[in-house]
Amino acid sequence: MALPVPPPGVELRALGPARGAEVDGLDLRRPIAPAVAAWLREALQCHHFLCVRGQVLDEEQQVAAAACFGPLETFPERQKTRARPTFYNVANVAPEGGTMAPDDPRLVAQKLNELWHTDSYYRFVPSRCSLLLAIEALPGEAEGGETEFSNMFLAYEALPDATRRRIEALHMVHDYGFDQRLFPALPPLDPAVREAFPPASHPRVRVHPDRGGRRSLFMTANTGAEVSGLGLEEGRALHAVLVRHVSQPGFCLRHRWRAGDLMVWDNRCLLHRGRPYDATRFRRVARRTTVAGDGPGAGPR
Ligand code: OGA
Ligand code: MN
Repeated sequence: MALPVPPPGVELRALGPARGAEVDGLDLRRPIAPAVAAWLREALQCHHFLCVRGQVLDEEQQVAAAACFGPLETFPERQKTRARPTFYNVANVAPEGGTMAPDDPRLVAQKLNELWHTDSYYRFVPSRCSLLLAIEALPGEAEGGETEFSNMFLAYEALPDATRRRIEALHMVHDYGFDQRLFPALPPLDPAVREAFPPASHPRVRVHPDRGGRRSLFMTANTGAEVSGLGLEEGRALHAVLVRHVSQPGFCLRHRWRAGDLMVWDNRCLLHRGRPYDATRFRRVARRTTVAGDGPGAGPR
């Protein structure tokens, strides 16, 4: 795919073989010209995730930036939303002020982000891409708090042929209700959330709609390990092998946040996970807008 030419004054630096790019010189506080929006979409296609530096955006401006990529998801989950349902508050500081206690369910729920996943995997139509804006980042001396990405095209292509054949027809079951198995401190599933998100099943192998049918792995590690098409134990064993596989450094890239970073990632071909940090000592505040996908997790045809 030809690399798109950045708009005047904008610089893009590619980050590495797992892809990703850093973007300087954009000011998303101003109305975003259609040509800039088109460039952002193309740059995301090429690089899978973009770190747009230096963005101090209010909620309206972040929504406008996200809308360049498509219609937004809304969240009925109370632990995720700020005043408006298009935001997920990824923070250890409560919107009403003050650092959250370690057992605050809103903070416990964020522990799920520390296991490989793709956003909105539990919806029948998983997300297209996410935009996470760092409002307060950890200071230099703090350990952890980075976000890691793993490239599912590379991970799929590096699997042995026999494994690729084995997983071709399998699906994975995704269910919000599984979360509590991993974190029993979570409150029981809210009936409104249960109603909105019944269990969904997605192919383990995805075909990226915009990438000429290129195949990639689709999975999450922050839920159960139920694979439909295999016995329970066999499915769990396969899942454990795949989780180790996607964690190999050759597919991964780690992002250390600075305040003002707006990260945009393609959920259709990347996994991500947050690295743990000491939430009792350091403040970390980010706000996510999530762009809806345009079809179920389409598998091979
Ligand atoms: C997310 C997420 C990880 C992190 O916002 O979707 O998974 O490092 N975040 O905060
Ligand atoms: Mn996430």
